Parts: sequence; C-alpha cells; structure tokens
Amino acid sequence: MRIVTTKAEVRAQVRRWRGAGEKVTLVPTMGALHKAHMDLARLAGAGGRVIVSIFVNPTQFAPGEDFERYPRNLDADADLLREAGVDLLFAPGQEDVYPRGLDDLTRVEVPGLSADLCGAHRPTHFAGVTSVVARLLLLTLPDAVVFGRKDYQQLVILRRMTEDLHIPVEVIEGPITREKDGLAMSSRNRYLTEAERRTAPLLHAELRRCAARIEAGERDFPGLEEDAADRLAEAGFAPDYVAVRRAGDLGPPAVSPTGEWVVLAAAWLGSARLIDNVVCGAGS
Ligand code: PAF
Repeated sequence: MRIVTTKAEVRAQVRRWRGAGEKVTLVPTMGALHKAHMDLARLAGAGGRVIVSIFVNPTQFAPGEDFERYPRNLDADADLLREAGVDLLFAPGQEDVYPRGLDDLTRVEVPGLSADLCGAHRPTHFAGVTSVVARLLLLTLPDAVVFGRKDYQQLVILRRMTEDLHIPVEVIEGPITREKDGLAMSSRNRYLTEAERRTAPLLHAELRRCAARIEAGERDFPGLEEDAADRLAEAGFAPDYVAVRRAGDLGPPAVSPTGEWVVLAAAWLGSARLIDNVVCGAGS
C-alpha cells in the first residue's frame, strides 16, 4: 500500500490507474479506524482500486468539541488498511487540504438540510463536512466514493452536494457495522466508560422498537419520537433528538412516497455523542 500526502502524488496515481482502465473508489475517513471502516474499504474494493483518506477535519468541529482529543494513530490505521488490501492511503496535512489556512475559506454548504437534526445541535458541522469532502473529491478525482449509512444525514447531504454541483462521482452507500450487541461501531465509542458501554446498545434497541411500531402501522410520529426520547433519558442518555423522517430525503414523515422511513437519533452518553438510525417500511 502506498502512502501519499500531496495532491500531485495522489492525482498522478489516480491518472495511472484510470489510464489503465481501472475504476478508483475513495473512502474518506478521519482515521481511528475499526471494522466498520474496513467493511467500507472492502465494499469499495469490489469496484477496483481503493483510496482511503485520513484527515481529521478541523472545520467540522465547533470550538469546545472533541477535535483535540479525537484519536489519531496513523501507523495503526495504515496496518489495518494494508491488511484490508487498500491500494493507497492519502493522508494530507492541513496545508494540503486548506492551502490558504482556515480563515476566509471557500465553503461548500447544503442549506436547509444542514441545519436540521444533528445540524440543529452542531450548527457549523455539516458545512465543514461538505467543505472538506468537496476538496477531497477534487484532490483525488475518483470514479466513486463510499459513505457509511451510520451517518445517515451526512450521506443524504453529501449525495445532494455531488448532484447539485454536478461532481462526476458515483456515491455508494456503505452498511452500518454493529457490535454483537447492536451498538453501531464508531471511533467515538472509545470515549465510553465500561458502564456506559453496557448501556450504549439501548440506543439501537430503542430505534428498532420505534421502527417496529411504525411497521405495525402506528403513524403518530411525534408521539413515537417523544416516547423513544423519554425511554432513552430514563436509561441514562441525554438525547439531542429522536426523529422519524422520510428515508429518501429526510423530509417530514407524514407522506412517504416510497413507503420508507428512517428513525434517527443522537444522544449523549457521558462524554460520547452517539448517533444511529434504522430504516423501516417497504423494501427495508
Ligand atoms: O464521516 C466522517 O468520518 C467525516 O465526516 C468525513 C466524511 C471523513 C469528512 O471529514
């Protein structure tokens, strides 16, 4: 596996692969890799060459969030990626991604959706994500990009960004990888204490319970959301929100033309902010 840090290096490699008729897929990450990332990399690998990028993006963290303590271990990450058969690790520095620094940045923003759900609690977060992913796509120029479904809102926003900006890249949706007890794998799970780790799977259990009620025909969405949030609070979580939305575009759930909904939640457990979601209804 090659490790490169600059635009010139990554683009030259991508040009060679594409010149040889090979498809190139990017998996953007912030490192602190685990099995869920490897699943995304394997999915990407089914299509040809795989680039995994590792960049802890400062612009998606607000002051006071966990940018400084976000786990960083490039050597361990590189070992995992080698084992998973990844072709290239792109690990740019801040100056490679944001050559003019962080002030007066050229920003990419998907309005509306970025202010909803997680965006209502982290108002600058998604503009940071779209601003960095647009750059990562332009730095690497891949044929396809994989985003995991655990960050459901992020996936919908990034899909919209690529469509709105006519970025010629195929967006591939990656699965949610869970621990045996249902907890969605996340780099932030390592912030949980042992006791919190035992409580954490209840988040997924509660979303499944809510989804099962929708599948059974209940349509009082605000009531379902409130009930799930109350139960999470009783279990020791501090929920930011539980929300039922149309699965396709995160619109209001009252009318879902596809008959599919997604139940999403973000909840604090100690110092970890956990997110999860369950899709339900036709075809899920
Ligand atoms: O999902 C993540 O890890 C990040 O938000 C992403 C997409 C790599 C952008 O920094």
